[in-house]
Amino acid sequence: MEIKVIDHPLIQHKLSIIRDVNTGTKEFRELLEEISMLMAFEITRDLPLMEVEIETPLVKAKCNVLAGEKLGIVPILRAGLGMVNGIIRIIPTAKVGHIGLYRDPETLLPVEYYCKLPNDVAERHFILIDPMLATGGSAASAITLLKSKGVKYIKLMCLVAAPEGVRLVNEEHPDVVIYTAAVDGYLNDHGYIIPGLGDAGDRIFGTK
Ligand code: PRP
Ligand code: URA
Repeated sequence: MEIKVIDHPLIQHKLSIIRDVNTGTKEFRELLEEISMLMAFEITRDLPLMEVEIETPLVKAKCNVLAGEKLGIVPILRAGLGMVNGIIRIIPTAKVGHIGLYRDPETLLPVEYYCKLPNDVAERHFILIDPMLATGGSAASAITLLKSKGVKYIKLMCLVAAPEGVRLVNEEHPDVVIYTAAVDGYLNDHGYIIPGLGDAGDRIFGTK
């Protein structure tokens, strides 16, 4: 399976607080932003570097800087928005696209309502973000949509994944590596991840 579980102790600790039903909106948002930043650190581990000459106060030295690979972040609305700021804090030059999808509560199938991407998608490396990978329908459709627009390089970053969602994305898009902080047990009859953290969008935005 193309999945990387980022089990850094800081991430695991913060994720446990996020899961807690007693964690309020403010703390939920702050922790999601912090975890997203820490996960982005891991996801960008393979960014190419190039050597440049820098003059320190003492000597000239050969140093590494980013080789300038173009990056893009695409949150799936709404809940993906909660992860954008944390990533932008460490990749401040990344362009941000948006895909609007909601899951029909009856069929659990994704319904698309918005898509806006940067112009130069073909050479840009995208991180598609959504805290919840449940049935995988939303992420798989978002990836299909990105590919239909000409996107070639996609990584999927979520916070909590269900095995069902991992399987679907792997089957439909074997080229996309999934990064997650946890793979939980199963989906309940309403398509919620168990143990999960509830409805991510509602917890981020205080709706319910
Ligand atoms: C949630 C979540 C994912 C989707 C995951 O969004 O943020 O996008 O469900 O479920 P899936 O893997 O079964 O497709 P939701 O549809 O609740 O919309 P919202 O973010 O606007 O609340
Ligand atoms: N969407 C959520 O926000 N939470 C889940 O557990 C499943 C889908």
